[in-house]
Amino acid sequence: MTTIAFDIYGTLIKPYAIGQLLQEILGAKAPAFNQLWREKQLEYSFRQAAMKEFQYFTHCTKMALEYSDAVLQTQLSEANKKRLLEAYRQLPAYPQVPEVLQSLKDQGLEIVAFSNGAHRDLIALFEHAEIVNYFDQVISVDEVRTFKPAPEVYQLLAQKAKADQDQIWLVSSNAFDIIGARAFGLKTAWVRPNPAAILDPFGYESTAIIKELSELVSLFA
Ligand code: LAC
Repeated sequence: MTTIAFDIYGTLIKPYAIGQLLQEILGAKAPAFNQLWREKQLEYSFRQAAMKEFQYFTHCTKMALEYSDAVLQTQLSEANKKRLLEAYRQLPAYPQVPEVLQSLKDQGLEIVAFSNGAHRDLIALFEHAEIVNYFDQVISVDEVRTFKPAPEVYQLLAQKAKADQDQIWLVSSNAFDIIGARAFGLKTAWVRPNPAAILDPFGYESTAIIKELSELVSLFA
């Protein structure tokens, strides 16, 4: 048995898809806002983990929205903040996701969602993106009340996966997630659409590097 655990935001679900709504609300400032918002959201999750505090990932998203609004002086109304946070709960999946997950399921692999997102938010997101039925398990950091790349999170995956630890793969586009999983001792497939992207020099290599998700089908054939 092999378990394939998928990172969610940025790997199966498109966080930058919120750009269209930002464009409508903020015009020219939208791209800078979008980037800062995502960077701060992740930074706040890392900082919470370091501080041994835990608030749901949606709270990190909300705090990052407030920060970005203040720093970029975009004066978002409360109504627009609400619209943006709502849109974040309904992001789309990348177009190839259903087909790739179905093929991997047909190959007899255990398919797991593995994310910083809260369990109930992940289920709502997957229902909206119409991919909920592809997952054998949805594993959220909620259960250990910390965030990636804390080792407790990868330990949770190792405990809950059907496969033995040496047959568990993390698929992620996020370099920090790949490095965290490698440091814990899992196998990884780094989704790297841009060949110029580098894995931060922590001294770990990804087991595999793929340009797009569809390559997983032959990787696990
Ligand atoms: C997740 C974030 C890190 O889904 O992308 O866990």
